Amino acid sequence: MKTAIQFFRVGAFALLVGFAAAQIAAVSPASAQQAPNPTAQSVKEDQLLNALKPGASVSGRITIPDQNAGTLIQPQGQTWRAFHQSTLPVIGAVAVIGTIALLAVFFFVRGRVKIDGGFSGRTVTRFGGFDRFVHWVTASTFIVLALSGLNLTFGKSLIAPLFGEAAFASLAGYGKIAHNYLAFPFMAGVALMFIIWAKDNVPNKLDLDWIKAGGGLFVKGAHPPAKRFNAGQKGIFWIVVIGGLVMSVSGWHLLFPFSDGHFVSEQQFWVNVHGVLSMVFIAVMLAHAYIGSVGMEGAFDAMAAGEVDENWAKEHHSLWLEEQKQLGAKTPPRAVPAE
Ligand code: HEM
Repeated sequence: MKTAIQFFRVGAFALLVGFAAAQIAAVSPASAQQAPNPTAQSVKEDQLLNALKPGASVSGRITIPDQNAGTLIQPQGQTWRAFHQSTLPVIGAVAVIGTIALLAVFFFVRGRVKIDGGFSGRTVTRFGGFDRFVHWVTASTFIVLALSGLNLTFGKSLIAPLFGEAAFASLAGYGKIAHNYLAFPFMAGVALMFIIWAKDNVPNKLDLDWIKAGGGLFVKGAHPPAKRFNAGQKGIFWIVVIGGLVMSVSGWHLLFPFSDGHFVSEQQFWVNVHGVLSMVFIAVMLAHAYIGSVGMEGAFDAMAAGEVDENWAKEHHSLWLEEQKQLGAKTPPRAVPAE
């Protein structure tokens, strides 16, 4: 009887040790390095997260066709979310508000860039109907894309508290539809701009002199020579073409997510590219719109009527004006208002 009790005690102790060892093994780092079984009954989220090496994810078995749905946990999603919710709005606010502030300072210090020689009353054709059509299709679609995009980043914290959640929800809904569809005419506009203006935007030595002279923007009366487009405009052109291309490629991945079997991490990459570039793009286009309208006397006429004053052309595009004159470009005199 005594032997039986001893035997029972040893057996119970062995069972206890075995059980304890199993428990330790279950939480020890060595076993944690092995991929845990996400469908096991006792698996906990913390265990899964701790077990993941950087870049890894926990995937399970699924029977539906979309294999992406099998990803249970992707820890990079948390980093991405933090970037998207916190860092991107800061980048956007600095880029957009910073540019507006710089433009305001420039306006108050330098004032409007005037035509030094005043309006001559003679005009020269700068952009034909097709050039202007392409410009305004690209510009107007860009404005809607920019506003509806900014609404996605800032609307929840700026619009919703002011106009209410319901108003924000319908604005965001219509904004999303506009954003999705207007992306196509915008992409077409950028492609057409490249076709019609690339030949006049090839950089050359003259551009260096123009840049050294600050484009004549900071010194009154300074007018570095330029052909059809000066270095500043060439910069804008290539930002629009290359920026437009990258916005289009990244936007395409957002319009058609996972269409070529991408991983979640690739989607996150394209969202970040699209978001950060859009903020930089908007900031640059604010500066462009400023100098093409209130910032410079006579500039807007180029994209409105297509005709610019000869003195404007002489001051900002002297070599181009000479070329035009040699080509025999003759236009009827423009009516000058009586003083
Ligand atoms: C309402 C805003 C805008 C205004 C007032 C404006 C005005 C102008 C003007 C006056 C010109 C002709 C400059 C010249 O005679 O050389 C021009 C050219 C141009 N615009 Fe705009 N624009 C605006 C928006 C945009 C947008 C959103 C884009 C593209 C996304 C764009 C792209 C271009 C390009 C590539 C050129 C030719 C290169 C240059 O002159 O910088 N514009 N714009």
